[in-house]
Amino acid sequence: MTKVPLVDIYIMGKKYKVPASLTVMNAMEYAGFQLKRGCGCRAGFCGACAIVYRTAGNYELKVGLACQTKVEANMFLAQIPYSPPLKGTYDINTLTPTASSIALYYPEIYRCIGCGSCTKVCPQNINVMHYIAHAQRGEIAQCATESFDCIMCGLCASRCPVHIVQYHVTILARRLYSKHLLPQASHLKRRVMEIKEGKYEAELRQLMKLSSDELRIIYNSRDIEE
Ligand code: FES
Repeated sequence: MTKVPLVDIYIMGKKYKVPASLTVMNAMEYAGFQLKRGCGCRAGFCGACAIVYRTAGNYELKVGLACQTKVEANMFLAQIPYSPPLKGTYDINTLTPTASSIALYYPEIYRCIGCGSCTKVCPQNINVMHYIAHAQRGEIAQCATESFDCIMCGLCASRCPVHIVQYHVTILARRLYSKHLLPQASHLKRRVMEIKEGKYEAELRQLMKLSSDELRIIYNSRDIEE
């Protein structure tokens, strides 16, 4: 059996030897950390696990998702303080799909200096600066579609020198887009009505009585769309 080589990593200044094949998240657990925060789907979708790190001899601050980034020899990991992002509270029904609706809650978008830090740092390779420009111009559909892969990890906002919270801007744009610009999906409306009328109630109650193993069998044998 071939042995996986071990590499040294440093977590909060303390050295640990971990298998080189692990992700940062798995390496932290291997080192004995129990992750209760900053850890969600473990598959690159939920955005809970943003990290910053440096490697020996390299001043550059690197970023990534802990569940997707492989450990490197002499990687220095540190926790960063959570920066509470400003988040607008609004009633989407009363807003219009225009630039002024976004400016009302996120006026800082007009302070963008075009440095591109948000785009460079995005682990999803989204052109964040570009969709902020769409937001500034009230191009709601473009802003919503260009940012569609955002998982709200917050790295863009953590690097923005003018304190734009890009991922909240795009959530507002996507809400405006779906509420006011996209045609309503009739099949969704019908399904919501069926749920409200209790059409699936008995089936759900039946499922709730099953064991994990029974549920697993049903899940694995479900119809899967081509
Ligand atoms: S844990 Fe969900 S993206 Fe990493």
